[in-house]
Amino acid sequence: MSETEARRTGTLRARAEIDLDALRGNVRRLRELAPGAALMAVVKADAYGHGAPACARAAVEAGATWLGTATPQEALALRAPEAGLPADVRIMCWLWTPGGPWREAVEAGLDVSVSGLWALEEVTRAAHAAGRSALVHLKADTGLGRSGCQPEDWAELVGAALRAERDGLVRIAGLWSHFACADEPGHPSIAAQLSRFREMVAYAEARGATPEVRHIANSPATLTLPESHFDLVRPGIALYGVSPSPELGSSADFGLRPAMTVSASLALVKKVPGGHGVSYGHHYVTPGPTTLGLVPLGYADGIPRHASSTGPVLVEGKWRTVAGRVAMDQFVVDLGGDMPPEGTEAVLFGPGDRGEPTAEDWAQAAGTIAYEIVTRIGPRVPRVYKNASA
Ligand SMILES: Cc1ncc(COP(=O)(O)O)c(C=O)c1O
Repeated sequence: MSETEARRTGTLRARAEIDLDALRGNVRRLRELAPGAALMAVVKADAYGHGAPACARAAVEAGATWLGTATPQEALALRAPEAGLPADVRIMCWLWTPGGPWREAVEAGLDVSVSGLWALEEVTRAAHAAGRSALVHLKADTGLGRSGCQPEDWAELVGAALRAERDGLVRIAGLWSHFACADEPGHPSIAAQLSRFREMVAYAEARGATPEVRHIANSPATLTLPESHFDLVRPGIALYGVSPSPELGSSADFGLRPAMTVSASLALVKKVPGGHGVSYGHHYVTPGPTTLGLVPLGYADGIPRHASSTGPVLVEGKWRTVAGRVAMDQFVVDLGGDMPPEGTEAVLFGPGDRGEPTAEDWAQAAGTIAYEIVTRIGPRVPRVYKNASA
């Protein structure tokens, strides 16, 4: 939704405002940090909750030449003309299961990840049927222990992919991997993964693979490990201006700006006596006569129930705390006797410049990571785009 549309719809119950200039600035900053590498904007999971088409367009405007998604469906949606992206932007997806839309992916010119022989067989068959070669990135498990080909199976996978390449059915466009602990500076697995990645790449290249891109760097690696940048970096969370981990540094330390601000209009403000139980289970009881504000957002909107009694909210310049349980559609804050009118803005999180909490504050309140806070904001909360045109 654009700012103008939002104004036309009047005061919204709640909104997630997405500042696309902040996102563009973050892309430029990340490119400065990885000057020798191309940038893949990771826009999976609806761009970590920020809205994939708008964020993908803004990222491309700021110089991203690749987009990355988890599922092929996400990638195909970005290839559709409605997404409004340039036809030559590379779009890669990596989370495949047997019987996936390989043929559609090949026909749409997507880059696809292959971690094992089953996937190579399916993509080769699809390429044969489509009459064009598939752009394949062979994924090495260099130590994450999640997807990717184990070092012991690499020779077989590389050999089979090279045979398919000679048959004109695949093009080995990339060799890649993913870090386990890049957000923990000095973790011994980082050096071990890098050295294994170099070995696995060297093996494939010595056998005749000529990948366009070798890539392993996520946000923390893009921000702090230049030796991991290779030909392409794949930041996700940093694009949205959120630090991958508070231990590594804040957004501001890295020159990044959070793009998402979540706020709601108070639905009710009322006086209550002391000793009044608040919300399900009465886990909060008013310590004395006070006022309560009803915030019309709940766990159905992605507000973590684990932030019951802890989540921070800015109302009229003051930090308030979730009083008692977060319910499905609403929660309450104790306004300490203040009587702001209904409709007053309650800001859950944003960049922090107005004194509002950040996604990181909510992550701490809920015992999770800021990735989860922004990504889980649900579809019932309209996204309002600020600075939609570059
Ligand atoms: C394969 C892959 N690359 C890159 C990223 C981006 O990670 P981050 O958001 O930490 O930058 C992800 C996200 O988890 C991923 O799964």
